[in-house]
Amino acid sequence: MRKNIVAGNWKMNTTLPEGVKLAEEVNEALKGVNANCDVIICTPFTHLASVNAVIDPAKLGLGAENCADHAKGAYTGEVSAAMVASTGAKYVILGHSERRQYYGETSETLREKVALALENGLTPIFCIGEVLEERENGTFNEVVKTQIEEGLFNLSADDFGKIILAYEPVWAIGTGKTATADQAEDMHAHIRATIAAKYGNEVADNTSILYGGSCKPSNAAELFAKPDVDGGLIGGAALDAESFMGIVKAF
Ligand code: PGA
Repeated sequence: MRKNIVAGNWKMNTTLPEGVKLAEEVNEALKGVNANCDVIICTPFTHLASVNAVIDPAKLGLGAENCADHAKGAYTGEVSAAMVASTGAKYVILGHSERRQYYGETSETLREKVALALENGLTPIFCIGEVLEERENGTFNEVVKTQIEEGLFNLSADDFGKIILAYEPVWAIGTGKTATADQAEDMHAHIRATIAAKYGNEVADNTSILYGGSCKPSNAAELFAKPDVDGGLIGGAALDAESFMGIVKAF
């Protein structure tokens, strides 16, 4: 059966000492807790190896926020999936709306990134979600379906089974404006039906679909209570150990 997951996305926040301290705080807080979900933190590239050295991998997973769409070579400033894996990280966020919006990531580059992540043993946390205009003009279901089809449906059922999905309505990210639990559930059910139509019910039932966008301790329990919402991808509220743990404990 699919896993419940709470994953932090630190984005471009924290210096290295601040990040190691935050990771230590989350790691320490998890010692006293029997979490009903997998807990993951995704940090800037610069922090991965140092954070990996201070966390208990049995309690806390580690991921990157991106990786390159090439395996290696003359791509100044890029960080490959193999480099990420060599730090001890096990996950990588791919296709976050900020990457799509500000860095021109397309479904084509994302297919390369997903393939390289899987080749290097990393679990992609693949993000999808509509912008406000698409929510308002009613095309949101189609938009999200197309993102999944174009970004992931080239995969075999076996490889698709390794993917974690994160539905993040762009209008809810960092805005304080959360999707309602019913809006999230409707979309998550639509995503699961889209997967089932391609790969069958078993693969669809086993895929974890996280919600992201202004998720916080005060709204997490209501969101996570929905049958197709299998956890959260947490931005702002992941930057404080206490609020992040408040979300973990919502399960
Ligand atoms: P937020 O970000 O929780 O700050 O809205 C979520 C995300 O972008 O992953």
